[in-house]
Amino acid sequence: MTHHAPLPPEIARRRTFAIIAHPDAGKTTLTEKFLLFGGAIQMAGQVRAKGEARRTRSDFMKLEQDRGISVSASAMSFDFKQFRFNLVDTPGHSDFSEDTYRTLTAVDTAVMVIDGAKGVESQTRKLFEVCRLRDLPIVTFCNKMDREARDTFEIIDEIQEHLAIDVSPASWPIGSGREFLGCYDLLNDRLEIMDRADRNRVAESVEINGLDDPRMEQHIPADMLAKLREEVAMARELLPAFDRERFLEGSMTPIWFGSAINSFGVKELMDGIGTYGPEPQPQPAAERTVAPDEPHVTGFVFKVQANMDPKHRDRVAFVRLASGHFERGMKLLHVRSKKPMSVTSPVLFLASDRELAEEAWAGDIIGIPNHGQLRIGDALTEGEVLRFTGIPSFAPELLQGVRSTDPMKAKHLEKALMQFAEEGAAKVFKPSIGSGFVVGVVGALQFDVLASRIEIEYGIPVRFEASQFTSARWVQGPKDVVEKMVEDNKQFIAHDNDGDTVFLTRLQWDIDRVIRDYPGIKLTATKELM
Ligand code: G4P
Repeated sequence: MTHHAPLPPEIARRRTFAIIAHPDAGKTTLTEKFLLFGGAIQMAGQVRAKGEARRTRSDFMKLEQDRGISVSASAMSFDFKQFRFNLVDTPGHSDFSEDTYRTLTAVDTAVMVIDGAKGVESQTRKLFEVCRLRDLPIVTFCNKMDREARDTFEIIDEIQEHLAIDVSPASWPIGSGREFLGCYDLLNDRLEIMDRADRNRVAESVEINGLDDPRMEQHIPADMLAKLREEVAMARELLPAFDRERFLEGSMTPIWFGSAINSFGVKELMDGIGTYGPEPQPQPAAERTVAPDEPHVTGFVFKVQANMDPKHRDRVAFVRLASGHFERGMKLLHVRSKKPMSVTSPVLFLASDRELAEEAWAGDIIGIPNHGQLRIGDALTEGEVLRFTGIPSFAPELLQGVRSTDPMKAKHLEKALMQFAEEGAAKVFKPSIGSGFVVGVVGALQFDVLASRIEIEYGIPVRFEASQFTSARWVQGPKDVVEKMVEDNKQFIAHDNDGDTVFLTRLQWDIDRVIRDYPGIKLTATKELM
């Protein structure tokens, strides 16, 4: 590891992270407890939607709608001990999507939640792979230990095998299901006893002097204590000890066991993220790598959210600050348009409501309200021309036609689709022949999410239908060649939301044919965002 000067304390105390999980593992519940212990919300609520109605919403939307908690934002900040946590919301569908990938470009750590009875599930694996693409450090929380869970060694083995990562137990569960008493904290040699009476309270923490401390017997029945001692001895022998360097490089994950609904294990997990989790990390740009402690402010847009306030059709661009100390009113360079931009009303999502951000530091996420100038991937700096390279644009892998089932609303559909295209929620292509639209996504679930958002946010009922096209390519090349190609292939030509020319294809053969027949033409699978 390279040693460099420590970061300024305000930057060093920041921990920016996201939670990944298979649906139902407990991501929403854990988010809620984080906010509760972070002082961002007062008390966990009661009412909530069930099943499918909930699946396609993001965690924060779920919290807001189900529990009446106002967290209509994509990032929430809260303090815990000496740390400032920035929790970035992940998209409502856990299918792999650009959205998920981009969210993960804005964080320094991921918390992986698994269900103690189910272990590694399909979406856990997909999301884990996305984290691995970026070598993100991963902290694991094994939830629902108050239910009948699998054997602890079996869970750990499954993670090690299925995800090819070493797992080091940070805590060890004592019993499971109705017998679940709590955990032995292996990092601090403490006993944590779960309080079943009050779900919002923190567990009782008992200082003890190692596993052989006679005080253990006051809290744990003899047979369970014997089992615990035996298991911990085995774990210490068979499983790797926690190694922070390996955690930071993404090849080892510490695992905590707990029960989010009972608030159990959550504080230890937060402690772990704070103590071991990385500080704001350097961010790669085409020109150079930007270090968090550089004096000048830089940042990049990783998400654009429209319709946050149904009364205004404004958008909020979420910016991850890569360096510097931001102060409200600062004039920043919007690198793509080369225009200065006064950031007078940035929002920081603190506690239960949007707040004007007076200042923010590298690692923080600020929201900048705008009318569409800010796009995903855009860089903001104090004058330097920088292009952050972490955020790719994926070629859509699935294409479908879309139309409104209410013909009266067809006109509004175009507006809605353009909005989603600018948010980066989908690729939208307007074919040069005909009146419909073709929508491209990376994961099939995105179609469901789009359909429900178009209906909820715009009141337009829509239907997605099969399209003859299977892929899209952006067209570049000498002007006359491109014009000729477009003229000859009108039925396959469309334009994206920026007006750029796209070739819709059915087979690889279409691509080969165009490349052969139109010398100099380039068909690209991704459009650089910058
Ligand atoms: P998700 O966001 O990952 O989809 O999961 P969510 O938190 O919504 O939790 C899924 C279900 O698991 C919820 O039950 C939730 O109450 C339950 N749950 C979460 N953590 C724990 C835990 O530690 N122990 C137990 N026993 N259950 C837990 P539900 O029946 O779908 O909703 P609800 O009616 O309980 O609210």
